[in-house]
Amino acid sequence: MFTQPVPEDIDILKGIVGEAFVSVLAEDLERYGQDETEDLCFLPAVVVKPHTSAEVSAIMRHAAQRSIPVTPMGARTGLSGGALPVHGGIALSMERFNRIIDIDERNLQVTVEPGVITEVLQNAVRDKGLFYPPDPASRGSCFIGGNVAENSGGPKAVKYGVVKDYVLNLEVVLPSGDIIQTGANVLKNATGYNLTQLFVGSEGTLGIITRIVLRLIPHPQRDLLMLVPFRDPVDACGAVSAIFRAGITPSAMEFMERDAIDFVLQHNPDIQMDIPTDVQAHLLIEVDGNDAGVLMQECEQIAQVVEQFNCGEILFAESEREKQDLWRMRRKVGEAVKQHSVYKEEDTVVPRAELPALLRGVKEIGSKYGFRSVCYGHAGDGNLHVNILKGEMSDTAWNETLSEGIAEIFRLVVALGGTLSGEHGIGWVQKPYMPIAFDSVQLELFRRIKSVFDPQGLLNPGKVID
Ligand code: LAC
Ligand code: ZN
Repeated sequence: MFTQPVPEDIDILKGIVGEAFVSVLAEDLERYGQDETEDLCFLPAVVVKPHTSAEVSAIMRHAAQRSIPVTPMGARTGLSGGALPVHGGIALSMERFNRIIDIDERNLQVTVEPGVITEVLQNAVRDKGLFYPPDPASRGSCFIGGNVAENSGGPKAVKYGVVKDYVLNLEVVLPSGDIIQTGANVLKNATGYNLTQLFVGSEGTLGIITRIVLRLIPHPQRDLLMLVPFRDPVDACGAVSAIFRAGITPSAMEFMERDAIDFVLQHNPDIQMDIPTDVQAHLLIEVDGNDAGVLMQECEQIAQVVEQFNCGEILFAESEREKQDLWRMRRKVGEAVKQHSVYKEEDTVVPRAELPALLRGVKEIGSKYGFRSVCYGHAGDGNLHVNILKGEMSDTAWNETLSEGIAEIFRLVVALGGTLSGEHGIGWVQKPYMPIAFDSVQLELFRRIKSVFDPQGLLNPGKVID
């Protein structure tokens, strides 16, 4: 059973981090009780903002002694409720861990604290000609620590991989208060179990990440961006795997249904675009590299492939400005859907060539259960964000029968060889669906791994598995 902190605990926490960094103010509890997941809010009993791993360790030791639940959190931009303090207790904000400790240009590595904003990190290494590719849509506000905890992706993942492909080593505070390194600052490591990768994507349930070592790559010098319209969204999805089969690996391959762009345009009057009425979907395709001629050739090859899928007139971004506008439009989709309607977000992922079957299936399931969906996402990765709009649905249908429709989507995903989440994680909202992707033996393994690290079950309780 969990204990909620009493005034004596609050005093002890103040003793650890300093009075200014402990809050029980109602407005703080409300703020730290939310992330970007739907409209969910779970109030913590106290917000604590440590500054060093020794402080995190002392907090964990005290929490363990008193059975107080602790929910670590970054910028709270997550979409699966991973940072929601669903059992109250301590909201442990990592926002003061905001230093880039070392950009090691000799070894192409960066050591960073978890509370650094992803885009700040990207720009800092970019200034040295280096590239840290994983770039979630929220990169201007999300923290690198949250990205590691969720194993985030974003548009560049299709060519450059996701967060897990860049993490070399972590410093982690365990629920016991012990502070460990998970690996070494090396590109190869065949030394024992891979603790680093166990922590990547563990959603703050096994330990608290306090320092991160990432590998970097040289920044590509050029890119070209094209927007390809389609009348039939299933054709757009079909074109995706054909492009890869033609031997091209774009640095981004994003799919957007018509509604996704329409919502962005409605909610962002400064973004302008004319879309012919018969266009129902787009692919936003980027290629990057160092040789302008090669990139042009790749674009021509891509154009030849998409023409076989009944595309409309292709728009090539002609200036940096046009590229930025197109990317801004794409990155705004999630936010625009949220502004448009109460919604639920699913983060389905299937093998790339199954994307047409997934999209068709999602629409059929929508008709059966009476919901409208807006689909967009990282088509090159087979990663389709399915946003289900409440729209005209009754509260009963929304709260009761919809979960059966979502379960049906996930059963389809698994039948197609895919799984529940590509990059948003399981957190709180997808947990009920885990038995669709895993059998009892697998789920029991998860539980046993969790109990090795966190025998009292105090760290981010209620997440991923029960
Ligand atoms: C995106 C976020 C929602 O792709 O993952 O825009
Ligand atoms: Zn995404």
